[in-house]
Amino acid sequence: MTAHQSKVLGIIGQGYVGLPLAMAAVDAGWIVIGVDNFAAKVDQINRGTSPIEDISDEQLQSAIAKGAYKATTDFSTVSAASVITLCVPTPLNDKREPDLSLLRSAARGIAPYVSEKTLVVSESTSYPGTLRDVIIPIVKEFKPVGTENVFFACAPERVNPGDAIWNQKNTPRLVGGIDQESQIRALAFYNSICDAVVTVSNPEVAEAAKLLENTFRLVNIALINEFTQICSTNGINVHEVISAAVSKPYGFMPFTPGVGVGGHCIPVDPLYLTWWARQNGSEATFVESADRINHEMPKYVAERALSMVDGNIVNPRVLILGVAYKPGVGDVRETPVTELRSYLEDRGANVAWHDPMVPTWEGTNSVDLDWNCDVAILATNQPGMDLSRLITNGVQILDCTNSIPRQPGVSSI
Ligand SMILES: NC(=O)c1ccc[n+]([C@@H]2O[C@H](COP(=O)([O-])OP(=O)(O)OC[C@H]3O[C@@H](n4cnc5c(N)ncnc54)[C@H](O)[C@@H]3O)[C@@H](O)[C@H]2O)c1
Repeated sequence: MTAHQSKVLGIIGQGYVGLPLAMAAVDAGWIVIGVDNFAAKVDQINRGTSPIEDISDEQLQSAIAKGAYKATTDFSTVSAASVITLCVPTPLNDKREPDLSLLRSAARGIAPYVSEKTLVVSESTSYPGTLRDVIIPIVKEFKPVGTENVFFACAPERVNPGDAIWNQKNTPRLVGGIDQESQIRALAFYNSICDAVVTVSNPEVAEAAKLLENTFRLVNIALINEFTQICSTNGINVHEVISAAVSKPYGFMPFTPGVGVGGHCIPVDPLYLTWWARQNGSEATFVESADRINHEMPKYVAERALSMVDGNIVNPRVLILGVAYKPGVGDVRETPVTELRSYLEDRGANVAWHDPMVPTWEGTNSVDLDWNCDVAILATNQPGMDLSRLITNGVQILDCTNSIPRQPGVSSI
């Protein structure tokens, strides 16, 4: 059987996107080779210990035991695959601009091992033109001599870590092939895994749609964060306002305020859009304002919390509850709590944190909930955090999550 006829899938990057895709593909009857350049993670996965919350050890062990899945650091193994997906991070560099170095190195890594009729799909989030102008030229430059027909498509991942309802199978998948044959092959692949596949006319539409989806979230979160501050100044409970507005049956979608935005997507992807706009002589001023407003939230939260402390205390003790960027995950990438902690420390506070899903973070360890503090800030309401203990002990809490309304000693942002 040649590679293009085989139901063998190579996935580059075994993280929040790649590993769930691997398990969904195994469920759909694919043999999956999971390539990752982080050797310790590969070892951990092959021992049957899942590095992410959404995949259980049992699911991973079952896939490995039946010979349907194996992780490796060896790129040459993808020569057996008919489909190769790129699921590597696309972060920002020091200038807060797109950093495609990992995507480039993944494309370079697979290029010598593509064969006639291999389908290469990018699932990583990036600006429109990344598949056509960055990935394809690399693969074409380094592919084996005489390999003419390699197919390419973009199918941005929409996974929402920690979501019990929406997953790889039931979330509709956008697919944009570089040409008609690529599109046909990409549709066949995703139809084998997903319940619904949405065809778009080219990869750039798929890439742009992904940026639109995440920018939509960024600006709406910024709007509610700004609105919250306006309401607070006027003594109005924003959560009651949101609940009231939600009663409108059309044209409104609720977003909730918080310490800011975090994770690998919402704070990052919109800056791919602002950068892309600048490359084309445009400006995404609305998105830039939203980014600025969200980055001002940690300062606002810190000031609100410090205002709850007795003014005679020079170095208040502040306990931050939940440092992951959202509940139910241990992911601290881009967490706005970093800026919150740093701002509090700049204001002289002695800061500790507690998160049952994050044992260590930025060189420090989670403290016990009983850590003696002057005020606690509930930044992320992690499951398993016994907040009633704090309330019973009379600890003052600034709740940024609207999880514990109308309790003595608790204020809400
Ligand atoms: N996490 C999400 O919720 C989410 C949702 C939708 C889309 N995305 C996008 O998917 C992409 C992947 O994100 P993620 O959250 O899965 O990242 P991740 O950090 O969880 O996993 C990526 C994995 O790729 C590996 N890796 C990095 N460079 C590599 C290379 N050159 N070769 C082989 N392995 C390499 C890393 O070791 C890591 O294990 C990003 O573009 C992201 O924006 C993420």
